[in-house]
Order: sequence, then structure tokens, then C-alpha cells
Amino acid sequence: DTSGKIITCRAAIAWTANSSLSIEEVQVEPPKAGEVRIKMVSTGICGTDDHTIKGLLSAVFPFIPGHEGAGIVESIGKGVCSVKPGDKVLTLIIPQCRECSSCLHPKGNFCEKQDVLPSSGLMLDGTSRFICKGKKIHHSFRASTFTEYTVVPEIAVAKIDDAAPLDKVSLISCEVPTGYGAAVHSAKVTRGSTCVVYGLGGIGSAIVMGCKASGASRIIGVDINEEKFPRARALGVTDCLNPQKLKKPVQQVVREMTGVGVDFAFEAIGLSDVMLAAWDSCHLSHGVCLIVGVAPVNSKLSLAAPMIVSGRTLKGVCLGDYKTRDCIPQLVTSYLQNKINIDPLVTHQLPFDQLHKAFELYHAGKTIRCILLF
Ligand code: APR
Ligand code: ZN
Repeated sequence: DTSGKIITCRAAIAWTANSSLSIEEVQVEPPKAGEVRIKMVSTGICGTDDHTIKGLLSAVFPFIPGHEGAGIVESIGKGVCSVKPGDKVLTLIIPQCRECSSCLHPKGNFCEKQDVLPSSGLMLDGTSRFICKGKKIHHSFRASTFTEYTVVPEIAVAKIDDAAPLDKVSLISCEVPTGYGAAVHSAKVTRGSTCVVYGLGGIGSAIVMGCKASGASRIIGVDINEEKFPRARALGVTDCLNPQKLKKPVQQVVREMTGVGVDFAFEAIGLSDVMLAAWDSCHLSHGVCLIVGVAPVNSKLSLAAPMIVSGRTLKGVCLGDYKTRDCIPQLVTSYLQNKINIDPLVTHQLPFDQLHKAFELYHAGKTIRCILLF
């Protein structure tokens, strides 16, 4: 029985920005009041993790990256009542405290207890549960999943169905709600509508699935890596565009293809120029532009001000606007009931100690999602 004791295990640490991750022996302290210690079973590698390791997003080094995780509760701290040891759970990059102004409002999900924008890398009490070589190691995004054991606040844990296959459902911790949810729940893509998805990686692919499931009649997919096109077509993309091979700006091509601009545009890369292209791809009157990608810290978006009055909607969204603890378990159940098929999103599965190979495949543009297995 490990409860109440420090656990020594393996974890990947980002010591400094842009250095490669190193797998180290770490000490993981027991959970304090309101916290949960989880034995990780699988974790996805998301674009956000890569950007964080590179120092493009807010993170405090050294830290243990990863946020898209599935595991089993090992032990709980005082007062934890929503999960117990042995429960299958997902980590949540956006918690749901059920007490703050965001959680109490019927719309939106950006809980005030989130630790992404900006990130302190600490638990809610301002301390850390990880130590390596005598040094304090920071958490990331209330999750830190590139470790055999992690400690997270109870408000950032979703208890899921006992029948859930933990080697896959880590994707329902982030990629599926972020992408699929942006289309079906946040944008509420309508039957017969036209859509454009900028970026056909993990998140973009999940957006395409959501557009298709919503009955979109045309889904234009945009990516600079044409290796992404066959899979995107299989998921529902009707037209593929490589902006580097076009003679005109991609947004102009999208407007010409549809005659009037699309009903729904999604940005799933995290680049301000592409966000502008998505905005300018929209129908001027009723087009809706959803920003799903996270842009680098301190980047800015500059819109042509007069044209804003035409009626388009610009909306940001994280995790599909789902109240995370309430809704993410339902997505797992929908997967178990064959209502959502996440299997095409999993292109690779590797053991945790092949983390570097997984990142090589990711950087080479070969993966949609590579899942690391513990
Ligand atoms: N134009 C078009 N496509 C691009 C461009 C560009 N300028 N730059 C990159 N891409 C493509 C890549 O080729 C890749 O297919 O965008 C895709 C990004 O996908 P992934 O790297 O798999 O990242 P993903 O996990 O999907 O995350 C995308 O969403 O959650 C956020 O922070 C995350 O900003 C990131 C975004
Ligand atoms: Zn909250």
C-alpha cells in the first residue's frame, strides 16, 4: 500500500525551454486535502505540450509536461469525495470547481482555478508535489501526465465509466472535447453548412469529425503538410488546400470556392496569421470563426476594424465549452456506446520510455495522436 507515502517513479522533465525532455527518477508526494494521486495508464502528446516545452506558452521550468491523461486513482487526500482509489479517471486541463463565476454561469467553462493562461505550475495551495534530485519540480496545467504518478486537485479530475479502455480514452481528456466539442457543442455546426478547418493535426481532425457528425455539406481542410490529407478526407474533409501551393491567399481561395465565405471557420494551429485567415474565410453576415489553437504568449491579433460590424462572430473556445467534470465523462460513455468513434485519431501507441521517438514522429508530422503507455 503506497497511500500516505512518497512514491519514487519515472517522469519526463523539461528542465529549460527548448531542451529535450529527460526521463528522471522523481519523488511524488502524497495528495494533500482536496487532491488526488493518480497512477497514469496513458497520455496523449498534444500540440500544446510541444509548444509549452519550447517555452512558447506560459510554463514555469523545470516542470513535468503533459495534460491529456487517463489513469487510476491511487490515493486521495482529506475531503475528496468525487473519486476513490481504484476509480478510472481523466485529467482535466480546465478544472470545474463548481464555485467560481465561470462555473456558476450556464455558458462557458473557463474555471477561475485553471492554471494554463497564465500558468503558476503549482497546486492550489501554492506548492508542488514533485521533487527530482532534491529540486522542486513544477506541475503543468493542473495535470502533468508524463509521469507514472501525478497529483492533481480533485476539481481537475473526471471520474469515468469502469468499462473505458484507458489505453485510448486519454484523448477524451483534451483532444476530443477540444476538437469535436468545438464543432458540435460550441459552434453548433448546422446541417448542410459549409466549414473550413485550418490545421489537420490531432485537434483539427477531431473538429472535422464534429463537423461531419453535425451534417456539414462541405468541409474544407487546410494544412501545409499534405501527408495529413488522406486521413482528413477519410474523416470527412471534402476539399484539401495547401496554402503554400496557392497563388492567392488561402482565405481568398476559400471565399471563391464557396462564393460567399463559409458558415463556420476553425483555427486549430495557434498562429495569429492563420486566425486572421480563418476570420476572413467567414461569411460576412453570419459566419462564425472559432479559435481553438493557443497562440504564443504575447502574440497579438490585428483585425480590420470597420468590417467587424458586418456581423461575423469571433469566438475563442477551450475544451468545446464543456463544463469539464460534468460533460467529459459523458463523452467517454458516448464512445463506449459507439456514438463517437475516436479510434481513427489514434495513429501511434508507444511505451512511455520511447517518449523521444514519439516526439520525433510528432515533429516529422507523422502522427495525428501518439499515445504513450505506462
Ligand atoms: N498553415 C496550415 N497548417 C499548418 C501551419 C500553417 N501555417 N502550421 C502548421 N500547420 C499544421 C501542421 O502541419 C499540423 O498538421 O497544423 C497542424 C497542427 O497539428 P498538431 O501539431 O497535431 O497539433 P494539435 O495537437 O492538433 O494542436 C493544434 O490546438 O490545442 C491547440 O495548442 C494547441 O495550438 C495547438 C493546436
Ligand atoms: Zn470554477
